[in-house]
Amino acid sequence: MADIESLLKEKRRFKPSAEFAKQANWNSRTVAEYRKLAARSPQQFWAKMARENVSWFTRWKKVLDWEPPFARWFVGGKLNVAYNCLDRHLEGEHAWRRNKAAIIWEGEPGDQRVLTYGQLHREVCKFANVLKGLGVKKGDRVALYMPMIPELAIAMLACARIGAPHSIVFGGFSAEALRDRINDAGAVAVVTADGGFRRGKPLPLKLAVDEALKGADSVKHVVVARRCENPVTMQEGRDHWWHELMDAASPNHQAAKLDSEHPLFILYTSGTTGKPKGILHTTGGYLTHATTTAKAIFDLKDDDTYWCTADIGWVTGHSYVVYGILANGATTFMYEGAPTTPGPDRFWDIIERHRITIFYTAPTAIRTFVRLGDEHPKKHDLSSLRLLGTVGEPINPEAWIWYHRLIGGKRCPIVDTWWQTETGGVMITPLPGETETVPGSATRPFPGVDAEVFTQEGKPAKPPDGGFLVLRKPWPGMLRGIWGDPARFREQYWSQYPNIYFAGDGAHRDKRGYFWIMGRIDDVMNVSGHRIGTMEVESALVSHEQVAEAAVVGRPDDITGTALAAFVTPRAGTAAGGAFADELRRHVTREIGAIARPADIRFTDALPKTRSGKIMRRLLRDIASGKETVGDTSTLEDYSVLAKLRESEEA
Ligand code: WT7
Repeated sequence: MADIESLLKEKRRFKPSAEFAKQANWNSRTVAEYRKLAARSPQQFWAKMARENVSWFTRWKKVLDWEPPFARWFVGGKLNVAYNCLDRHLEGEHAWRRNKAAIIWEGEPGDQRVLTYGQLHREVCKFANVLKGLGVKKGDRVALYMPMIPELAIAMLACARIGAPHSIVFGGFSAEALRDRINDAGAVAVVTADGGFRRGKPLPLKLAVDEALKGADSVKHVVVARRCENPVTMQEGRDHWWHELMDAASPNHQAAKLDSEHPLFILYTSGTTGKPKGILHTTGGYLTHATTTAKAIFDLKDDDTYWCTADIGWVTGHSYVVYGILANGATTFMYEGAPTTPGPDRFWDIIERHRITIFYTAPTAIRTFVRLGDEHPKKHDLSSLRLLGTVGEPINPEAWIWYHRLIGGKRCPIVDTWWQTETGGVMITPLPGETETVPGSATRPFPGVDAEVFTQEGKPAKPPDGGFLVLRKPWPGMLRGIWGDPARFREQYWSQYPNIYFAGDGAHRDKRGYFWIMGRIDDVMNVSGHRIGTMEVESALVSHEQVAEAAVVGRPDDITGTALAAFVTPRAGTAAGGAFADELRRHVTREIGAIARPADIRFTDALPKTRSGKIMRRLLRDIASGKETVGDTSTLEDYSVLAKLRESEEA
């Protein structure tokens, strides 16, 4: 945990301005009161949040039923997430929101759409009826493989409305990755689009679905939204056009009264083995967590235009593009395409034209913009911004300062939010009207969250010592399991310390108790803020007929945080050079998607292994990042392998 020293040198402090603090949804008095209540009784705190921020058809009987590692929150309560995101903004004291923008959308080519709460409600009701008409029932899984267009939000809210858990597969994943996820969840329907614009070209999504469904028998229906007008083939009986079904659908639909623990969605994330984990989230606890954190951390107000740049295919998009934002009755801005199309100032141009007030993005994006040059943000009027956020990986203090100065004009608080697909919502974060921030630190746990840094022995580490990030108490947005695999759920998260959640991140705390996240401690790599398992990429490489063996590690990269470095042993007789390396990159892109494309590929006769045959990725990491090997090499089976690898050149 080598970063401790440099991080500790960070002395800059940023207090919220009096002006911001005065208007904050949660000011320092509220925060103090909530921290006190949550420290005494986390359950009482979360129950208060569930009462104040969520609408229930039936109140719960018990706040928490905790049989480690299985939690049930708001037991006996009944509600509907889509009702909370839509219907309740059309009734009572909020009825005026009917004509307020729920979604402001901009396509990559520059086309725009606005859906008011009234319009979005109508579309969601219609699509709920479409799903029903296709025979999708409460409990059935629906896979969504879509570009960033309003239809994606409509489809997920319609699923939530009828109680059919969705499994969103990021549009950048390949047909093979989609097929695995469809099969694991046993999805009965797929919602997709003809394409989606990315860097000026349509992503061929429907083509990938056709490929994926060769070998996914559970799927009976495919609904295709028209976006790019690119040619697609429609299979009679199975495939339906979105607009044709919607034209015929009734706009009347009553939101299902669902149990608080009814499954809301499955979202696949990487683990240390090749098989992706289907992280399961349910209804009442998840919504309480997402809504409360969005209100407190993003300080959402009725006159805000909030933009989270994440794709809805990642958990950030689930919780903070759609559910947490719409449940607050706020306006969420959605952008379809690439950040640098048509030019390097696209984001700043969007902020200026739409008068974005709250902006939430990833450190990897910020580093890209730092490199592109200050002139691009400087060309634009960013004075509408009042709050900035980051998520996905640690932010290096210099990037933080750049974000603060160039984008925030030194007036916007920055919330560095730590959380995971598994946690459902933000866990460690500044509260913008209260917390003094330090660049690089996610500061303190959200009220009701019991985070700690543990030593190997399971004791709190003494500041500033590093250790393992854990969560000692259940929280409402926590994952309820891994789809179809309770044993893996226990093993992955609950086996390191009894009844304590193991996050898989290294961290340390400073003297005032602030948390500093140091990154993943397992073989999972964080590329551009997204977890990629080494195993998945290795399996993809080995699936190439000329590859005998492969190992993949992460190495530091200025822009993406981590870049993938692959060590490949080709089969005998293969001409291993630049052309073959390029072919392997294309192969991995085809198998998993461009996000897993190795930056470096080195060819080698042998990989460094222990006597028991385990690849020593630790040594490969040193080589990939050009470092001396400092760690223990005594378990290495063959020393000469290491020397040869050091001499090997990147292909
Ligand atoms: C991993 C979770 C949560 C949405 C995006 C990623 C890293 C996340 C931070 C942060 C340092 C962070 C951790 C975590 N991470 N936010 N603010 N500071 N690291 O979701 O794919 O489930 O990845 O992202 O390593 O474990 P994910």
